Amino acid sequence: MSRLGSEGEDIIGRWSEEKLDLLAKYLKAYSVIMNEQKKSWLRAYYYIDAFAGSVRPRAKEDEQRYIDGSPVRALQTEPQFDGYWFVDVSPRRVERVQRLRAEFPNRVIDVHQGNCNKVLCNEIVPQLPYSSKKRAFVFLDPYGLQVDWETVKELANTRTCDIFVNFSVMGVTRRLPRDQNPEPEAIEQLSKVMGSTNWITEIYQEPRGIQQELFGNPTEPTSSRDTIQAEWLASLYTQQLQSLFRHVSKPVLMRNSTNSVLYALSLASHNQTAIKITNEIFNRYEKLRNMGK
Ligand SMILES: C[S@@+](CC[C@H](N)C(=O)[O-])C[C@H]1O[C@@H](n2cnc3c(N)ncnc32)[C@H](O)[C@@H]1O
Repeated sequence: MSRLGSEGEDIIGRWSEEKLDLLAKYLKAYSVIMNEQKKSWLRAYYYIDAFAGSVRPRAKEDEQRYIDGSPVRALQTEPQFDGYWFVDVSPRRVERVQRLRAEFPNRVIDVHQGNCNKVLCNEIVPQLPYSSKKRAFVFLDPYGLQVDWETVKELANTRTCDIFVNFSVMGVTRRLPRDQNPEPEAIEQLSKVMGSTNWITEIYQEPRGIQQELFGNPTEPTSSRDTIQAEWLASLYTQQLQSLFRHVSKPVLMRNSTNSVLYALSLASHNQTAIKITNEIFNRYEKLRNMGK
């Protein structure tokens, strides 16, 4: 799905750039609000990038154009965060992230190489108990099914961490064959990511029934079935998030150039204002996207 450039950097499509723009918009709003809170109760607030990436990916439509990836967007945000944690499993990518220290010498940067599920749960979450009066924004931006539900649970339990999660709808649908039941190994993987498997049994029992109930159009042509499934999966994940976080934004569906849904982006937070701001940013984005059609 994703391609790599000659230096091992990601080559990304238009939608990924839009995702980064949405992230930057929200980070700006978040940082302004949190900085204000520091005048009263808040001790510090952090940016945590669990899938830091190749730092400056190239644009698919023009490979000579470099795009600022999520760590750069966060480091550019003003007012600045009290600290930045960057995690990536790839040693080569971690090396690139390390180089950002020279570019942003007055930022406090901590870089970890490893599986973010382990790094988050074992090293970062213990530093952010509720009693710390600290807050963190966690960006979860995997290629596929790499975010464990247990990790989301641990982050939610802190009540100090908000998560901005790019849920791989495509990663899930790929594991759900149309003509047979999924393999036990796929069910296990989906359960690890989604936190439950009841829904799998349901969709394989009466696939059209569920879609009709939710979307109300029994005459929906089968060609649009994929889109319906994607919306349904996105709202299923959002519902799961609602069982852990008090407030969850609507999911915004990220589509590729052929209009297939790849990911669903949403914010899960303990703060209602955060969700209001996110929904406003998402609504504006969707309006502009629809106008461009
Ligand atoms: C989609 S890219 C991240 C892009 C980046 N957030 C951005 O917007 O610029 C996914 C990254 O996750 C890394 N990765 C894959 N599995 C991981 C894991 N379990 N823990 C941490 N990083 C992982 C990959 O090496 C890759 O750099």
